[in-house]
Amino acid sequence: MLLPGSGNADSSAQPISVVSHGSARDRTGVVYLVGAGPGDPDLITVQGLRCLHRADAVVYDRLVHPALLDEAPTSALRFDSGKAPGHVKRSQEDTQRLLIRLARRGLQVVRLKGGDPFVFGRGGEEALALTEAGIPWRVVPGVTSAVAGPASAGIPLTHRGVAASFTVVTGHRMDEAKNEDLTELRSTTGSLTADTVVGLMAVRRLDSFVARCLADGKDPDTPAAMVERATLAGSRTLVAPLLHLPQHAAEAGIRSPATVVVGEVVALRFALGADLQPTVLTSRDDLFTAPSHHVLRATAT
Ligand SMILES: C[S@@+](CC[C@H](N)C(=O)[O-])C[C@H]1O[C@@H](n2cnc3c(N)ncnc32)[C@H](O)[C@@H]1O
Repeated sequence: MLLPGSGNADSSAQPISVVSHGSARDRTGVVYLVGAGPGDPDLITVQGLRCLHRADAVVYDRLVHPALLDEAPTSALRFDSGKAPGHVKRSQEDTQRLLIRLARRGLQVVRLKGGDPFVFGRGGEEALALTEAGIPWRVVPGVTSAVAGPASAGIPLTHRGVAASFTVVTGHRMDEAKNEDLTELRSTTGSLTADTVVGLMAVRRLDSFVARCLADGKDPDTPAAMVERATLAGSRTLVAPLLHLPQHAAEAGIRSPATVVVGEVVALRFALGADLQPTVLTSRDDLFTAPSHHVLRATAT
């Protein structure tokens, strides 16, 4: 008998060695690497939702909205990939072993990850581990916070005549790059020379992130923004000149998760009227009677 899941309860403490699944034994297990979207549960894809509805087991990340776990059958096993039994932090290797063990039992496993699984989500590493173990896997792309974060604040990443390119970098390794040698810096943290630069995981290393943008030629007055808890209740957007962003972020108490965006496109949110009104339709709004303030005021280009 499949051990029952109970709503959002984490199955981590349940020994999966006692799981058996009747007909599942006769099937080949598959792991679906599913993007959960940036935060708002409505921003998962239809295909992602279908996978959840059929899941025997869900292994989910910290940033996944809890409402999405309710979309899996109540009988589905649920595992918090951040926590192993006994509330010890589960390592990446542990998570990969868990996926393999579940799939080898013939289960349809959903590996639910924030945003898109292949954008700073270690989805590629998991796919590699599954391939090496001979487990079939599929990816269901998700709406990445790198794009949805700025969009939800009314900031287009590209705009004719303003920005023709954008780059997405992780702030994660920024403070490792203490070296003044730009070539070495770029090989560690990527090049930040696109018209628009988006930074994920950059809140704690904001000083280093800003220093990298300046080193790669951004003007200190370039408009910059931080979008905190994008698409979620209580989301905030901070706009400041690049050089002063860390100071204003500290004063405002901006916390992770937040997306940083640097470039002239940030100033567009004022021209678009996005600073005066909510610009993203959320699951808390009624889709069919969406008030007109959700429509961006278009500007002539
Ligand atoms: C480990 S990365 C995962 C990115 C994810 N795979 C994606 O495609 O969005 C986590 C980072 O994504 C960004 N992020 C995720 N959710 C966010 C949200 N709701 N609002 C703003 N930024 C978010 C933050 O920069 C956070 O530190």
